[in-house]
Amino acid sequence: MSNGAVDPRKDNHSPMAPDASAASNSHGNGVVPSSAPSHLRLRLNPNTEHNPDRYDGIEMEFNPLLYSSLERYLPSTMLGANRSTKAYYMRQLLLRYAPDGERSRVKKNKEYKDKIMSNYQPMHRELYHMNPAAFFVSSFTKAISENTEEAFRSIISEPSPGVLTFEMLQPRFCEMLLDEVEHFERWVRDTKFRIMRPNTMNAYGAVLDDFGLETMLDKLMEDFIRPMSKIFFPEVGGATLDSHHGFVVEYGTDRDADLGFHVDDSEVTLNVCLGEQFSGGELFFRGVRCDKHVNVESKPEEIFDYSHVPGRAVIHRGRHRHGARSTTSGHRVNMLVWCRSSVFREMKKYERHAPSWCAECQREKKERQRLSIAAINLELQKRVGGAAS
Ligand SMILES: [Fe+2]
Ligand SMILES: [Zn+2]
Repeated sequence: MSNGAVDPRKDNHSPMAPDASAASNSHGNGVVPSSAPSHLRLRLNPNTEHNPDRYDGIEMEFNPLLYSSLERYLPSTMLGANRSTKAYYMRQLLLRYAPDGERSRVKKNKEYKDKIMSNYQPMHRELYHMNPAAFFVSSFTKAISENTEEAFRSIISEPSPGVLTFEMLQPRFCEMLLDEVEHFERWVRDTKFRIMRPNTMNAYGAVLDDFGLETMLDKLMEDFIRPMSKIFFPEVGGATLDSHHGFVVEYGTDRDADLGFHVDDSEVTLNVCLGEQFSGGELFFRGVRCDKHVNVESKPEEIFDYSHVPGRAVIHRGRHRHGARSTTSGHRVNMLVWCRSSVFREMKKYERHAPSWCAECQREKKERQRLSIAAINLELQKRVGGAAS
């Protein structure tokens, strides 16, 4: 499906202009009509009671979920406006604050995706629409529908603190996605299209968001990853995940072999093995660290190795340091969804205290407390000793 499609069930105005005649074009150079409220002020705190509109299916350069998050900050007088009016003003705000470099990057990325989307013919169209009954194993969908910590705990195992694993994908879904990725790679070779790889560390693999799976993966994040993250990773913005980077990585003797020790550019990462036959390729974990402590050595209890099983997911904080051991034979493909929270990233800039999620910060904090208690005790002992003599 086209990511620029207009959802016919909702108002089909372009977000460029609540008054369609005021738009100059649909790609970002729209002129601000004289009615634009230059006095529009965002609220300091989000209106958590307000249930924002969904912005998927309308053409715009920013992520639909960003609009939904931002809507909670609109002044109450604007909340009753229709979706396209709100989207229009929010877009103006975003353009005002997004730096030029970021704006041209967003624009280039959209052009790149549009180019793929208008030429690539998907193989399995059913992958492009979220269909929980066909994608997931029933234990997973059941836990999600119950949406309680108890229900999640019943399907999850936590072999090491902060590393959660559970059965997630049906074999048929894994097969279809593997086919689709192969089909996409073949198209890339045949057309000599220059694709961007998922990140700087992988020479193989593909960004799923770039060939039409963005909407499906947004759903996956919103309805499946976020409810779990809200319970298990609240301190890193688990409840407010609002954008993602979805991709597959391929390992094997004729692909990338391994992956060095690193942290992800995510608050929460979902990593699911799709197959196929392989040996090796274990994921190794080494504890959660903030920027300042990212190179501080691991404690024995933080060292953990996980062996991939097709269909089984691992979910962890992006700052949980990890890497992948060599895939020594066969071919291994994993799907990764890096989930981010714009609210968490914004708040982090103002954080004065050591983050609760960094193991080293917590150790330092405990050490400071221990020293100050020891100093107080020493002082008390001196006084008691002094009084007795
Ligand atoms: Fe990673
Ligand atoms: Zn730290």
